Amino acid sequence: MLESCLDYCRARSENGWAKAVADCPAIADLRRLMERRVPPVVTDYFLGGAGEEQTLKDNVEAFQRVRFNPHYGVKCDSVNMRTEVLGHEISLPVIAAPVGSLRTLWPRGEAVAAAAIGKSGTICTLSTLTGTRLEEVKSATQGPCWFQLYLVGGKEVALKSIERAKAAGYHALVLTIDTPVAGLRFRDQRNGSAELLNGKLWPKIRFAPQMIRRLSWLMSFYSDGGLMDFPNIELPGGQPMPYADIGQQLQQSAVTWEDLFWIKEAWGGPFVIKGIHNVHDARLAAEHGAKAIVVSNHGGRQLDRVLPTLHILKAVAPAMKDLDVEVLMDGGIRSGADVVIALASGAKAVLVGRPYAYGLGAGGEGGVLRAFTILREGIEHTMRQLGCAAIEQLNESHLVAYPFGQ
Ligand SMILES: Cc1cc2nc3c(=O)[nH]c(=O)nc-3n(C[C@H](O)[C@H](O)[C@H](O)COP(=O)(O)O)c2cc1C
Repeated sequence: MLESCLDYCRARSENGWAKAVADCPAIADLRRLMERRVPPVVTDYFLGGAGEEQTLKDNVEAFQRVRFNPHYGVKCDSVNMRTEVLGHEISLPVIAAPVGSLRTLWPRGEAVAAAAIGKSGTICTLSTLTGTRLEEVKSATQGPCWFQLYLVGGKEVALKSIERAKAAGYHALVLTIDTPVAGLRFRDQRNGSAELLNGKLWPKIRFAPQMIRRLSWLMSFYSDGGLMDFPNIELPGGQPMPYADIGQQLQQSAVTWEDLFWIKEAWGGPFVIKGIHNVHDARLAAEHGAKAIVVSNHGGRQLDRVLPTLHILKAVAPAMKDLDVEVLMDGGIRSGADVVIALASGAKAVLVGRPYAYGLGAGGEGGVLRAFTILREGIEHTMRQLGCAAIEQLNESHLVAYPFGQ
């Protein structure tokens, strides 16, 4: 009786949040809504970056400092934003980036997000470090799915994940190369996140006030089984890796160029290298057979004070023109205008991480749908203002240098 009463309250409150997302005009509003629903110790994990968060800020600011050069007096009633990435036709040039621990934001978060990503007409990239089985995530969406592989647990464990991703029908493997060690996340350290993860009750008591103030999230979290583990990392005994072990494990999970040989052989399909910071690595990725690269600094979560990705893109994209490799980018995209800037600067398509995670935390599937709708409408609006009817026509002439500070 008590259980069904709680289930009813939880469902009512989840529906309420799912409705509230419809009123969000921008990604920043989804973020604020997520912060009202989810406790700070959890939201900080999604909001935060490495070190002093300089690169996290720079990624966003690099887009904000670009100005457009519109051509008016041109009839532009509709915009074609369809494109093809690794042979998948997608209805907008925005792909969901791999984001770990989505299940801490919403029950079965990865599967719920995948359903919305598929309905939005684009590709879902599932992280290794997620709380829902990769098979369940794949079957939650009609759209294409990529699997992002970390070598957590070692080669044998990774081979098992590759085998499962293949059997489940994932289309491409994404290898993230910018995690030789876990990022230094001061926010998580200040919040005492490690204490929340260890089994003892007493250190957890100090989180009670913020949890109680987010009762709706708390009910959802516990009805979904509480703290997730990592079912896509199967340890030798067959059990999933526990959440608490991950920090230490990441230290031993760096992907090297040498690893690509056995990974490629085991996977046997297209693969993508994510975490490209310069032309040298972009070309190495091509030499190793990558079909696409992602210019990415992990959303400013790994090495602080690396360049913002928009700047890296401007160097990498022209250098890859003669090669059969698709150039993608991520980091700092918060609006359709940002997507247009990235495409005009040489990206074939972009990935977004936080924008859809905020949507999920704010309102589950409806929130993720809303995030992609905001981006789609923003692209359409910007393109029509620019007088550009198709995304493949975008180029540097649509942007203009503005002398800031003079
Ligand atoms: C909370 C969080 C978790 C992430 N987890 C992963 C991961 O498991 N694997 C990975 O390759 N990238 C991961 N990333 C990085 C994203 O794939 C992507 O590069 C980044 O979010 C892009 O920047 P944006 O958030 O500004 O869009 C994560 C990012 C965030 C914010």
